[in-house]
Amino acid sequence: MHTRRKILTCMALLPAISALPALAQLRTAIHVYKGRGCACCTAWVDILKREGFAPTTEVLHPADLVQLKLSKSVPLKLSACHTAVIDGYLVEGHVPAADIRRLISDKPDALGIAVPEMPYGSPGMGPESEREAYDVILFKADKTTEIFSRYEAAS
Ligand code: CU
Ligand code: CU
Repeated sequence: MHTRRKILTCMALLPAISALPALAQLRTAIHVYKGRGCACCTAWVDILKREGFAPTTEVLHPADLVQLKLSKSVPLKLSACHTAVIDGYLVEGHVPAADIRRLISDKPDALGIAVPEMPYGSPGMGPESEREAYDVILFKADKTTEIFSRYEAAS
């Protein structure tokens, strides 16, 4: 009787197990355009995977990547290496996962967020314990920007 109950309990888990691929699809899709051979871009994509996103990547020739940023109105002064698209928003450069989550839940009236110039210690750019200070910038269609969040230098 005891064994039978155990088996029944295991059977009850089966639907949950077969639902796993569906659960995986609940991970938030994000599409990343990056340059060929960009190691820091790959490091950032790996961090997104660990943070529960489902990134897809597209490798572009450097000139095409610049063209893509221009066509999507990423401000040149805010540009970094990769450009990502999530829920209709742009994510430029080494933006922390927490800021991306806040962006897609707050849904501000903006084009996207950026971490310009690849600061050391931002996600994918070396250890956070050696982080230099940087800001995540919200940029809007009217070309105005505001500070979305600030990261202090690690002490
Ligand atoms: Cu980079
Ligand atoms: Cu990159």
